[in-house]
Amino acid sequence: MRLDKYLSSLGLGSRKDVKKMIKGGRVRVEGRDKISPEISVDPKRDKIYADGALTVYREFVYIMLNKPKGCVSAAWDKKYPTVIDFVPEELRHLSLFPAGRLDIDTEGLCLITNDGALAHRILSPKSHVPKTYIAELDRAVTESDIAAFERGVTIDDGYVCKPAELEMIGGLSARIVIYEGKFHQVKRMFAAVGKNVLSLRRVRMGGLSLDESLRPGEARELTESELRSLENK
Ligand code: URA
Repeated sequence: MRLDKYLSSLGLGSRKDVKKMIKGGRVRVEGRDKISPEISVDPKRDKIYADGALTVYREFVYIMLNKPKGCVSAAWDKKYPTVIDFVPEELRHLSLFPAGRLDIDTEGLCLITNDGALAHRILSPKSHVPKTYIAELDRAVTESDIAAFERGVTIDDGYVCKPAELEMIGGLSARIVIYEGKFHQVKRMFAAVGKNVLSLRRVRMGGLSLDESLRPGEARELTESELRSLENK
């Protein structure tokens, strides 16, 4: 990996900033006399110092994106922008993928990582990680809808959903917590009780809440405590 790319991926600055650091003699690679931004380094093996401090290679990154409408939850797409396009450029080379899918018109909490094991743990149906959504509907939820969701509604293909928590939160907005992740699940669950979802936003996954100060399209890395909270329910 290029030295400037590596330093930038640690959050030490943009590619331009780290190039300046390197040119200013603030970076040292043990055993190398000639340092320039484009030299190739092996961050797992090479001892690389920035401002005298040994840098620590991090294998995994965890990014929270407030997914905007109009992009797909995929690492690559022929037609549409993907959630990866919203990740800071210096992190994009890290084989990132979204942990779980949101529809193209769904907004909100999207976790992007390169940690396949963590993604598997939170997405596995056996984990029953709760996911909370706010839905805007065309008609108000009734008590009988709440009871039906609590029992488990049957969606269009005959699948009986696991019990879900449904709550009216004012006007035509509802909060729903589901413990599984079938294709278009929330929309199909509401369709099963005669309601159309006009817009949908995920606000929580496990113990991790969407940072409401992120505008749609904004992303940042998770804090340590957010990362830990993700696996708590
Ligand atoms: N359920 C849906 O219908 N769509 C999503 O994007 C997520 C859950």
